[in-house]
Amino acid sequence: MTVPPQLIDRLKSAQRVVVLTGAGVSAESGVPTFRDAQTGLWSKFNPEELATPRAFRRNPRLVWEWYEYRRKLVAEAKPNPAHTALAEMERLFPEFHLVTQNIDGLHQRAGSRNVVELHGNITRTKCFDEGTIVSNWTETGDVPPKCPNCGGLLRPDVVWFEEPMPEKETALAFRFGTNCDLFFSIGTSAVVFPAASLPFEALESGATVVEINLQSTPLTSKAHFVLAGPAGSVVPDLLKSLRI
Ligand code: OAD
Repeated sequence: MTVPPQLIDRLKSAQRVVVLTGAGVSAESGVPTFRDAQTGLWSKFNPEELATPRAFRRNPRLVWEWYEYRRKLVAEAKPNPAHTALAEMERLFPEFHLVTQNIDGLHQRAGSRNVVELHGNITRTKCFDEGTIVSNWTETGDVPPKCPNCGGLLRPDVVWFEEPMPEKETALAFRFGTNCDLFFSIGTSAVVFPAASLPFEALESGATVVEINLQSTPLTSKAHFVLAGPAGSVVPDLLKSLRI
């Protein structure tokens, strides 16, 4: 993809860059997105039955097993060129922050160091009752397994619907997003709040906003630059244009 020359100039003069990523960045690693018509998780499964505290209370085994299926998918997935290019971009700017809605940990596996995970991480487990992270437990065949500390049920350390966002990560994301000069929204449908308000807050605070996405979103008409295409090739092209 040819990167518009004005965007290359903005990239070369940028001091504080913030990137917000969504499931579209991991799509080319084989991790399903949520709302794509054919392949999205929410077109095959019902989030209310799987990704809420109520669903977990109602059927903890079903929810645990669904996340185990997704955990295995993520463990087999590899970072794609979009993840790798973002990890390299982190080192090219005086200040660079990566905020992700993804729970797959692929940014960190690609080498990104300071990643703000707004929706948690599927590779981490916590106690449903205490909220504390549990890194190992005795396998007793219980599904879900039990917390070694209080005997409560274990659950994935991800944000479910009807749950509050992690306070620290949310505050960080908005501090970065409203104090940057260049903001990228990559591979997200920009419909899940509060993450979806980040690009608009960046716009409000005077940042140049770039959207990289396959389909148009509520952000498309407001962004300064829209690069419609697969993140796995568009993001490396951006990086290449920086090198010239
Ligand atoms: P979505 O599935 O809502 O949106 C993914 C976006 O990526 C869509 O707009 C696609 O067009 C685009 N896309 C797909 N493949 C792409 C590719 N190869 N390159 C570039 N873009 C591509 O996923 P999110 O926006 O991440 O929250 O969803 C946000 C949140 O909603 C998720 O974090 C999750 C979900 O419910 C929770 O679970 C709390």
